[in-house]
Amino acid sequence: MSADQLRIATLDRDAVEAYLADLMHVSRATWDPQTCTPWVEPWTADQFRYDLAGKFSMSTYLADGDRAVGVCIAHERENGYGPHSDAPYGFIAKLALHPDYQGERAYVNSVRASGALFDASIERIEGSGLSAVRLGVLENNPTALRFYERRGFAMIGTQRGTDDLKRIVMEREFA
Ligand SMILES: CC(C)(COP(=O)(O)OP(=O)(O)OC[C@H]1O[C@@H](n2cnc3c(N)ncnc32)[C@H](O)[C@@H]1OP(=O)(O)O)[C@@H](O)C(=O)NCCC(=O)NCCS
Repeated sequence: MSADQLRIATLDRDAVEAYLADLMHVSRATWDPQTCTPWVEPWTADQFRYDLAGKFSMSTYLADGDRAVGVCIAHERENGYGPHSDAPYGFIAKLALHPDYQGERAYVNSVRASGALFDASIERIEGSGLSAVRLGVLENNPTALRFYERRGFAMIGTQRGTDDLKRIVMEREFA
């Protein structure tokens, strides 16, 4: 890995096709039954291809040269996640960074790769005029919880799915 080869870009339909194998590799490499929703992860090719239809503008990926090594899937959503909201909000559907690039292992313009990747999606959500962004994180994922708290997210509820795993619903409001 060379720091000057790392870049953040928008994950559009062409990028999904070009990097599909890399994206699935990242999803598999970060899959952990303790911290990831078992029936959703790791994402399949169809999830990357079809679940994202029309949801590309806020999604980002981290590229190292000609490989994708991280992904943040973000889109607009109207309710259905956490407490009722009168207004639509941005929703982070997936954040995953290959372990080789986590923590202090990788930087983009002096910012940790994880932060650079995530913040790029957050900027797109905020720039689209939405007033808040939400996400869900399993309670036994302390790394992700800490990561989101450090970025101004606060717990607004919990959700328990059919898998009986408890998800913390977090939100950040834009000023
Ligand atoms: C979530 C993810 C993108 C974060 O990227 P990262 O590079 O690991 O994040 P950072 O190192 O910038 O931040 C993690 C924070 O958690 C802390 N942390 C790490 N392990 C921890 C643990 N076991 N307990 C508590 N805090 C922990 C780190 O010290 C850091 O806090 P700091 O910035 O105050 O030092 C990455 O870990 C990942 O892809 N994980 C696998 C997929 C996943 O869980 N996605 C989220 C699903 S909601």
